[in-house]
Amino acid sequence: MRKNIVAGNWKMNMDLEKGLLIFNEIQQLIKEEVKGNQEVIICPPYIHLSSLSQLVDSGTNLSIGAQNCHQADSGAFTGEVSASIIASTGASYVIIGHSERRLYFSESNSLLAQKLDSVLENGMAPIFCIGETLEQRNNETYFEVIKEQITEASFHLQATDYSKLILAYEPVWAIGTGLTASPEQAQEIHSFIRNLLADKYDQDLANNMTILYGGSCNPKNASELFAKSDIDGGLIGGASLKARDFVDIIKALN
Ligand code: PGA
Repeated sequence: MRKNIVAGNWKMNMDLEKGLLIFNEIQQLIKEEVKGNQEVIICPPYIHLSSLSQLVDSGTNLSIGAQNCHQADSGAFTGEVSASIIASTGASYVIIGHSERRLYFSESNSLLAQKLDSVLENGMAPIFCIGETLEQRNNETYFEVIKEQITEASFHLQATDYSKLILAYEPVWAIGTGLTASPEQAQEIHSFIRNLLADKYDQDLANNMTILYGGSCNPKNASELFAKSDIDGGLIGGASLKARDFVDIIKALN
């Protein structure tokens, strides 16, 4: 059954003290809110993963994720963190292919394919991001761009592994800009993605995949976005840094 998920991407924000505070606040506030097939994921900077994992109350639908990983399992890569190290902290998700990684760190689809493999090999689930730039939206190449991102980075996976992925459609022009894709624009792409998955794998797999929307999602627009049939939750940046806003977005799942 398809899961509904709200994931918070803290990016390079929150020192440890603030992170622990907001995490505890969120955990308290969502106790009664998060139902059976819903899940909340918090993706802090690497160095908070272990501390936050230890604070998760058993029996809550709250999980911890990283924002990136290196593609190799171990080795002489000063400053990098592998999926196996992330898994050892208790984290269960890793964001792969965020547009900021693609843009500022030149991450290509073929590199992301290796990262997806590494996350899966280490027993975690990737939150795999795709999305077009403003230029690609304006020149109407966005369907091709998204198809290429998905095909090149993820279609080498077997169906059993694919079904562990969470996909996140994040139009680059909507990230941190205050511009949100309209619910109709987002639904159009989500349904396009689900059809791609049905063609490559099968309709059952496609129906069961969770596809999140990300890009200036906030407490005001979340309900309308999540009401669309192919939008199964959100990947939240800015609004995940305030406990109340983040929890209001989680409530919009209901
Ligand atoms: P935003 O970021 O909510 O601040 O637009 C979303 C993301 O980058 O995942």
